[in-house]
Amino acid sequence: MFKIKSIYSKIVLTIFGFIIAISIIIFAFTALIRNVIDEPSIYSREITREIKFMGRIVEEKMKNLSAVENNEEIKNMIEDFSNKTESDIRLLRLKDRKTLFSAYYDNENINIFSNKELDEIVKDTEKEGATRKYLRTGNGEMLFNTLIRDRDNNIYLLQSKHKIFYPKERRAFLWIMLFLCILIIALSAFPISRNITNPINKLIDASQKLASGKFGYSVDVKSGDEIGRLAANFNQMSERIRQLHENRKNLLADISHELRTPLARIQTDAEIIIDKNLSEEKRRDYLNDIIEEIRCMNSLIEDLFNLSKIDLGFEKLNLEDIEFSTLMNELYNQFEASIKRKNIEMEFVDRLNNQKIRADKAKIKQVISNLISNALQHTEEGGKIVITGHIVDGKIEISVKDNGKGIPEEELPKIFNRFYRVDKSRARDSGGSGLGLAICKRIIAFHKGDIRAESKLNEGTTITFTLPL
Ligand SMILES: Nc1ncnc2c1ncn2[C@@H]1O[C@H](COP(=O)(O)OP(=O)(O)OP(=O)(O)O)[C@@H](O)[C@H]1O
Ligand SMILES: [Mg+2]
Repeated sequence: MFKIKSIYSKIVLTIFGFIIAISIIIFAFTALIRNVIDEPSIYSREITREIKFMGRIVEEKMKNLSAVENNEEIKNMIEDFSNKTESDIRLLRLKDRKTLFSAYYDNENINIFSNKELDEIVKDTEKEGATRKYLRTGNGEMLFNTLIRDRDNNIYLLQSKHKIFYPKERRAFLWIMLFLCILIIALSAFPISRNITNPINKLIDASQKLASGKFGYSVDVKSGDEIGRLAANFNQMSERIRQLHENRKNLLADISHELRTPLARIQTDAEIIIDKNLSEEKRRDYLNDIIEEIRCMNSLIEDLFNLSKIDLGFEKLNLEDIEFSTLMNELYNQFEASIKRKNIEMEFVDRLNNQKIRADKAKIKQVISNLISNALQHTEEGGKIVITGHIVDGKIEISVKDNGKGIPEEELPKIFNRFYRVDKSRARDSGGSGLGLAICKRIIAFHKGDIRAESKLNEGTTITFTLPL
């Protein structure tokens, strides 16, 4: 169905509609009023004068004639009058009620009255010189009469029939039109107003709900007009507020939950240090523990804020073209000490054919270093880590493969969830908080890429991510 796309056009069209309807009403009304009141009275007064005038002229003519019947001159005169006045005219001799002449402008016969009626007309006409009589034919006709005499004193009735009202059907049509227009205006006022105010009411309702804390509440307004667009923006805003709220809630919950354990440990350590009998060596151990806990807490908070910033869209990508070998050199230097300590063999395979990686360098480095650090953590001494860069299906694929302990198949889908650790007790010891892969996933998604994991228990794990070229 035809849909109006904006309130602006709806209002313009409505105003035009009303103007047209009101014009029709005014036209119909004036037509009816003028035709019933003004026009007939002015018009019929004029015709009354006209018929008297015609009567006098015909009478003059008759006075010079010996016989009126069949006289050509009078016949012509009457035909001429009929044409000029656009009416049907007849001349009736009263003594024998015979129509001597008639001229039909409309090709319609003048009603033949009963003798009684005719007598009445004659009586009235004798009194007033000329009379008019409304004909109940339904055609809005009026009959104008005047009396004339010939030189033998025979009396004649000269009649002319005019259409001066709208015919019955036309008047009925005007009344119906008038009524219909008023009805249409009255009936359309409601749906038109409802059409405009309903969505506004829905928005008012929704904004109240949002104000009262129902974040994410959306309005169901599907029209494409201004209010529809406002509703779509409102829904977006509401969803955004929900995300922010959810994020803030999660962040607070995560921080308080994850910091409780290290804080408890720090407290215990500090309480022990206070004990004066503690040897200097032990005291140093406990202090080192405290420092390590604080380091972990700091990195945890930083990770959480990073995740939060990416989630909320506050982070921006500084895209640049990165060379695979440069990236790998930097990463190798970063991990050199741990690699050597664990006697791990590290291999880089460059199959990118000089294709540069278009990405945010700091963020991609964070992803790969998270993956390397996981691989290092879960690979036994003397193990091997291979980092490969190649192009698959028009995308850059980088994978970090180790031959460590692997991840059980049923755990694989969960490892990208925040705070997810396969081996909870062991992860605690190594200080992992389960955020590394969640951060990787967010950063890669931010680059419009994918990340996936393949693993076989006791054989090793490969984490692969793609980046668009
Ligand atoms: N290469 C791997 N080999 C075996 N298990 C892995 C490997 N990479 C990740 N995992 C498992 O997935 C879990 C989640 O990894 P993730 O990097 O998200 O957290 P984490 O390493 O425990 O902590 P964080 O990275 O925040 O310090 C790890 O706890 C580990 O159990
Ligand atoms: Mg990790």
